[in-house]
This record gives sequence, C-alpha cells and structure tokens, in this order.
Amino acid sequence: MSSKLIAPSLLAADFGNLQRDIEMVNSSEADWFHIDIMDGVFVPNISYGMPVLKAISKHAKKTIDVHLMIVDPDRYIKTFSDLGSDILTVHYEACTHLHRTVQAIKAEGMKAGVALNPHTNINVLEDIINDIDLVLIMSVNPGFGGQSFIENTYNKVKQLKQLIKDKNANVMIEIDGGVTNKNAKQLVDAGADALVAGSYVFKSDNQIETIKDLKALANS
Ligand code: DX5
Ligand code: ZN
Repeated sequence: MSSKLIAPSLLAADFGNLQRDIEMVNSSEADWFHIDIMDGVFVPNISYGMPVLKAISKHAKKTIDVHLMIVDPDRYIKTFSDLGSDILTVHYEACTHLHRTVQAIKAEGMKAGVALNPHTNINVLEDIINDIDLVLIMSVNPGFGGQSFIENTYNKVKQLKQLIKDKNANVMIEIDGGVTNKNAKQLVDAGADALVAGSYVFKSDNQIETIKDLKALANS
C-alpha cells in the first residue's frame, strides 16, 4: 500500500509571513502544497492569483497541487503550467467540455484532477475516470477555509473507490475541507489517498507536529 499524502492548504497560511510558512511545509512531513485559486464567480470568495503563485513556486520544494475554483479554467491552463503547477484540478461544475480541458492540462505536462462539489454525484465521472489522474472530493462547499466537514463524504469516497475499481482506473482520491485528526483515519479507510488540511495545520500551535501526527494517523 502506497503512503497516504498530506497537502497543507496555504489558504490558511499567514500571508504576511508566507515565505516562513512555505519553509515550514518544506521542512515538514507534508507531501504537497495545496493552492486554492478562487475567482469570486464560481465561488463567493477571491483568494490569490498568479503573482502569488509565482512567489510560492520560487520557495516551495514539494509538489504544487493547484485547485482551481474558477469559471472557464481553459483560459489559464498554460499559465498555471508555466507558474510551476504539477497537478491542476478543475471543477466538474465549472467545465462545459471537461474532456477537452483534461486533455489540455495533460498536454501541458501536468497531472489532471477533477473536483466535485458536495452535491455532485460520483457517477458523473464514469466517462472521464480513465482520462484523469486525480479526483478531489470537496468535503465542504468550496470558497472558504475553516468550515465543518460534511459526513456524507465517507459514502462518496467509497462510491468513487468502487468506480475506480470497476473501470480499472489509476486515479488518486483527494479530500478537501474540514480535515482534522477526527476524520483523517476514517477517510483513508474509506479509500482516500491524499488529505488537504488548511486551518487544522496553520491554526495549530505546532504546525510541524500537527502535520507529522496527521501523516501518522493517515498511515496507521
Ligand atoms: C476550500 C478550499 C480548501 C480550504 C480547506 O474551498 O478548497 O482547500 O483551504 O481549508 P480547511 O482545511 O480549513 O477546511
Ligand atoms: Zn482546495
């Protein structure tokens, strides 16, 4: 069994000390940097954009996992590749021609992810699951950090795990929103491969230890 991954979300970092927080993740047991890009249209919030990602890329020494919460993401695929994204995840709900978008992401040399909002059924992935590298299941409604985990997520992870098996696909399952030490183990047991954690990591007193403990729990 391959090791389960932890992806701290920089949305919860201290932006006045961004380099410090990036170095913290670099020196921790975390696996990925999770970068949330919001446009104020697809979600009711605006986070940060290209210049900030450029600065993050300069210091980040781990995989850069970009989660686009924007409408019509096709416009920026090449830009995100140029800015150092390793994984580019778009929302199912934001793409009219999802298959085309996924092909464009892969053509730029990135791994392609598809995110699903809490209300979106897993079965919409049936005809795309063999073309993608990752599914991001939102365990809160996208747009904000610090929200409570939606319990139905466990069922969705199990359904997705079954779909991946049925289709003989090679796809990672990432969970995003409200992840803490209270749900990490159960998520992994249901089939999750990667856990995003924002507030739980950055609002803790000892962030390095929190990441270490979450990683240990996910791999227990
Ligand atoms: C929410 C973002 C999440 C967010 C998670 O729209 O996609 O990545 O940063 O934050 P927490 O872990 O605080 O729920
Ligand atoms: Zn996210």
